[in-house]
Amino acid sequence: MSQDEKGISKTAIWVAAARAVGARDPDPAVRNPDDLAEALLGAPAQLGLDHPVVDALAMSYEAAMQEIEVASMVRAMTERTRFIDQALERAVADGITQCLIVGAGFDSHAYRFQELLRHTRVYELDRPRTSAFKQHRVAAALGGPPPNLTYVAADLERETLADALARHGYDPSRRTFIIMEGVTMYVQEEPLCATFRFFAAHAPGSSIVFDFATRAMIDGMKTLDLEKIPPMARPPFERILKLIEHEPWVFGIPLDTEKEFFSGLGLQLREILTIGSEESVGRYLTRSDGTTMGAAAHERAEAFRRMVQRQMTAAMDPAQRGQAEAAMREQARQNAYRIAEAVSTA
Ligand SMILES: C[S@@+](CC[C@H](N)C(=O)[O-])C[C@H]1O[C@@H](n2cnc3c(N)ncnc32)[C@H](O)[C@@H]1O
Repeated sequence: MSQDEKGISKTAIWVAAARAVGARDPDPAVRNPDDLAEALLGAPAQLGLDHPVVDALAMSYEAAMQEIEVASMVRAMTERTRFIDQALERAVADGITQCLIVGAGFDSHAYRFQELLRHTRVYELDRPRTSAFKQHRVAAALGGPPPNLTYVAADLERETLADALARHGYDPSRRTFIIMEGVTMYVQEEPLCATFRFFAAHAPGSSIVFDFATRAMIDGMKTLDLEKIPPMARPPFERILKLIEHEPWVFGIPLDTEKEFFSGLGLQLREILTIGSEESVGRYLTRSDGTTMGAAAHERAEAFRRMVQRQMTAAMDPAQRGQAEAAMREQARQNAYRIAEAVSTA
């Protein structure tokens, strides 16, 4: 039986595989620090996910990073992991005593930071089947969880986070660091807002890191018409649609409205960073010689995108082409994907 048939999150496998590939970079200045992702995933053939990022695990790092789909995921996940790791280290220095990881998948913070978190209670929440598989992999790869870790099996669309955690002795009056990585896009607005309100009600000094897509990006995926994409550019879109078939992207925030959105839920953004932006690439993906992780594939991806655009507008007259190109530029601007850290305003 494949992981899919077992109901284990495919997207959790996808992102962990990208971290595992990024952890192989020889340069510590850009390497993904998740050196447990590969062990937590186990044998790639057993994962039941047909995707270039999983195939990359059986290739040399150099060869894998020539693949555009691999390099783009590895770059994005490296930015994500390093942003979150830094926030976690700051939170521990600031005196948290509790850490909550929502939609944990193959998250490795409880294990990689076991020593740093030794005085911190850690909770990992995920849907029951994904949580059970994770526990099985932790036992196989690491010999079991650290003593300060509690697994919580719950579906945020079926019960509130507060209720699920209350069963396990979780205490929101403790100063807490919350990680919700790669999750907001999968949860409907109402339960997601209830989740953020619960975060906002935590003890002063608590903070949360999470990433989110713009509404335009989510709507673009929902209405994606493969027929309108030139055949040579279709396979990555076909693969992503297949990947999220049972885990649809449903939630996004209108571009540049996140400040108001989260203040309405009692949270103030401390930092916000666009994944793939100059700032983020400079911070997390740039080597000491100025080159960036996966640069060759990234440049080919950009060249390919420009070629596809030229093909799509080739038959248009100049005025139509100008309009179409402006619309594509605006769509690219709207398709932002961001990561943020927020604190409660209460
Ligand atoms: C893309 S994966 C991210 C996993 C992990 N946070 C990471 O970044 O490696 C999305 C995760 O969110 C979990 N998830 C999605 N919707 C959920 C829900 N309604 N309740 C609980 N977990 C959910 C999935 O099971 C999956 O593990």
